Amino acid sequence: MRSSWRHARSAMHALFVATLLVSGVASAADRASPRERILLDTGWRFHKGDPAGITGLDYDVRPDVAQSADGKDADARPDAAAKVQSNGERVLKPWILPTANPLIRDPAKHHARPAGNPGGDVPFVQRDFDDRAWTNVTLPHDWAIAGPFLKDGPYGGMGRLQTWGPAWYRRTLDISASDTGRRVFLDVDGAMSYATVWLNGQLVGGWPYGYNGWRVDLTPYVVPGGENQLAIRLDNPPDSARWYPGAGLYRNVWLVKADPVHVAHWGTRVTTPQVSNDVATITLDVSIDNDSTRATDVTASTEVFELDANGAKRSAAVARIEGGRARLAAKSGRTLTASTTLKNPRLWGPPPTQQPNRYVAVTTVSSGGRVVDRVETPFGIRTIRFDANEGLFVNGERIAIHGVNNHHDLGALGAAFNVRAAERQLQIMRDMGANAIRMAHNPPAPELLELTDRMGLLVVDEVFDSWERRKTPLDFHLVFPEWHEPDLRAMLRRDRNHPSIVLWGVGNEVGEQYTGDEGAAIARKLHAIVREEDPTRPTINAMNWAKPDMPLPRELDVIGLNYQGEGIRQEPEFEGTERIRTPPQYDAFHAAFPDKAIVSTETASALSSRGVYLFPVTSKTSAPVRDGSGGDARIRQVSAYELHAVDFGSSADKVFASLDRHPFVAGEFVWTGFDYLGEPTPYYDSRSSYSGIVDLAGFPKDRYYLYQARWRSDVPMVHVLPHWTWPGREGKVTPVHVFTSGDEAELFVNGVSQGRRKKAPFEYRLRWDDVVYQPGEIRVQAFKNGAPWASTSMRTAGAPASIEAKADRSAIVSNGRDLSFVTVRVLDRNGIAVPNADNRIRFTIEGPGEIVATDNGDPTDMDAFPSHDRRAFSGLALAIVRAIPGKAGTITLRADGDNLKGARVILDSRAQEQP
Ligand code: GAL
Repeated sequence: MRSSWRHARSAMHALFVATLLVSGVASAADRASPRERILLDTGWRFHKGDPAGITGLDYDVRPDVAQSADGKDADARPDAAAKVQSNGERVLKPWILPTANPLIRDPAKHHARPAGNPGGDVPFVQRDFDDRAWTNVTLPHDWAIAGPFLKDGPYGGMGRLQTWGPAWYRRTLDISASDTGRRVFLDVDGAMSYATVWLNGQLVGGWPYGYNGWRVDLTPYVVPGGENQLAIRLDNPPDSARWYPGAGLYRNVWLVKADPVHVAHWGTRVTTPQVSNDVATITLDVSIDNDSTRATDVTASTEVFELDANGAKRSAAVARIEGGRARLAAKSGRTLTASTTLKNPRLWGPPPTQQPNRYVAVTTVSSGGRVVDRVETPFGIRTIRFDANEGLFVNGERIAIHGVNNHHDLGALGAAFNVRAAERQLQIMRDMGANAIRMAHNPPAPELLELTDRMGLLVVDEVFDSWERRKTPLDFHLVFPEWHEPDLRAMLRRDRNHPSIVLWGVGNEVGEQYTGDEGAAIARKLHAIVREEDPTRPTINAMNWAKPDMPLPRELDVIGLNYQGEGIRQEPEFEGTERIRTPPQYDAFHAAFPDKAIVSTETASALSSRGVYLFPVTSKTSAPVRDGSGGDARIRQVSAYELHAVDFGSSADKVFASLDRHPFVAGEFVWTGFDYLGEPTPYYDSRSSYSGIVDLAGFPKDRYYLYQARWRSDVPMVHVLPHWTWPGREGKVTPVHVFTSGDEAELFVNGVSQGRRKKAPFEYRLRWDDVVYQPGEIRVQAFKNGAPWASTSMRTAGAPASIEAKADRSAIVSNGRDLSFVTVRVLDRNGIAVPNADNRIRFTIEGPGEIVATDNGDPTDMDAFPSHDRRAFSGLALAIVRAIPGKAGTITLRADGDNLKGARVILDSRAQEQP
């Protein structure tokens, strides 16, 4: 098991390099094709705010926000959309809507572009505008993450970072004279949000939703033979999200040049309608656009190669697909479909029992005897089946879903996508034993799905957090009527070839749970769109309120339940509440839908602050957070005994018990794998959430080991809490809890046994709730089936004396994106970690590297992320280091603190990854 995971890990690094080397130049594969795909990462200028006195650049009129929704309970009932009255202001919506046309199926519903060129007179879009005073930026770029944090006001929900207001990006594009006659597209993997694009002063189009990829056709506005001026305006609304959305061109942006006859945007679809160990049928649909003014004959032929663990093609093609031929009229498109069979296919499946094997289809399109396009479509061959009684089967093997929900931010790096940072998150999750990720609640960066494909993680790709009804005053509901179809199709077309995706999520706790047949009709419409784009995967909608007899759950393939399996607000204190209160619902849904599988799309929403233990400790296995019981509003921290949850949630232990009692449930997605920016329930003065199994800096909380004990039950491990440094608690009851993959353990305090305890059925931790604290050593010996299994010990620490610094990777590539995550620990003079140390750590760097950000995982820490000076939190701090692009050499990172012996870490910055 271990070795297959390691295997996948080395593949990650190769992906990373491969992604980066395309920067600014065409890759080898591109050169072999008439298509060029150029990464536009450098050369951008950035400016916040519109030019003085200019109005009329907004996408649409927005409702006034009378009251912020920040801090509103996550499971509050969404409201009906507010009606907006326009006073005849100019808005750009009519010019932007046509960008959606390729993703609207019914031509009658296509948007015609009105005459005129709004915004064409704005200085920022002019070629001769002098932008040298603007900031030089490299993409991906999140302009809000640097802060400062907003200390006052109702901004906790969105992470206390100002993400709202207009912002501009400008860049020149070199379009040579030889590009005359080619199509030129701008492909944006994600822009937060309400993007509008001008080229050479001409309004091209745009896209409101910040989480999707989209394409605008620059061709009509391009002037070949020199520099063309691109200008992009973004306009994030305030009160647009229940979490930190990020801001800016926060994912990759590409320039694509193609022959007029070319494969359409996201124009390939691979399905494998029949799969066995002996043979697989591979069917490929290729959509070809003829943008020229002449009819032409086209042919498509495809070679299929195996991909190795590094994502590189193995030498000989293993199959060919002759894709047929067609006559394309001028300005028309057509989809060619063809199939082949492949003997002894190497199947894609989740480790440790399966391997994430992949293939790539290389499709060559010819027209008039000339190769006009070549595209590569990586894919995997596998079967998935959701069974109402037994859950998920991948390639015939039952796989219990051990999943986590994650938002898109990367902690201190914000929303700016970074492959290495995302890979690190997934590795931390995988080491815990997670085998699945739910993309809460929006499509991720495309590279993240590359990672899940390669690592063999199962994915729920999810498109919306709201439909027509609103959760916050200016969220996606504002554009849902016009954009649900293009946005849903965009996700499906972009992502449908990823083997890791096993479910399409069409909504999360949408207000339409409350609107009976009306809401169900929307679900039906979304489900139908999914079927058209991808007939192979089931749909799911995550519900926290719907009941089995309501019309909504009927409309989707798989039942998605948030928190309802364990029951919501069942404690007596919630008697008479107007909030959601429901007994456990698995059996009721199973009885009402005997043919539908159930997935717990959100479980737990347990809360804790890493390393903070509050007393007294509840004797329950799950309880809401209250001041004096799990919470302390004064310090805004939640106890890491891992027994407390949001009011509608449950501890991990309680979730495990309910899953074990209902084995027909396919599995769970914990809310959340990582802490995220925003939604700091229950303390909205904080900046980041308390719900992660891992904190914002990437440091595991105690809960991590509770999941590991269950999800990797064959790996010997034992974890003990709390820490054992409690000056002032001598003689006081200090409960000790143990998480182990064994079934029994004995606890010793200073060598004296506190008893040997065994897990009873439906118990997942061992607890000694009456231990009296005395300094010294606690030791735990865990057993499995009566035999020693794992052991651990912890000693009382003295005063902080020194710093230890360790890098996750000591060699990094100087490509401007690779990162080293350096963890600092405060130690006493005997080298014991000081668990409550909060010393200030000053980071300095020498050599060709820079400190991108620092953090400590403390939801209350208001030092801006770029600060080089960071207080340790529960003994730990983090520095994220990047090599200066193009500069190899030795980087020295120092960590110093008052009265502490400092530490240094040497990093080797290399021009290229060493094999
Ligand atoms: C759920 C919601 C999540 C998050 C979570 C916090 O109700 O779907 O997005 O808000 O609660 O506990």
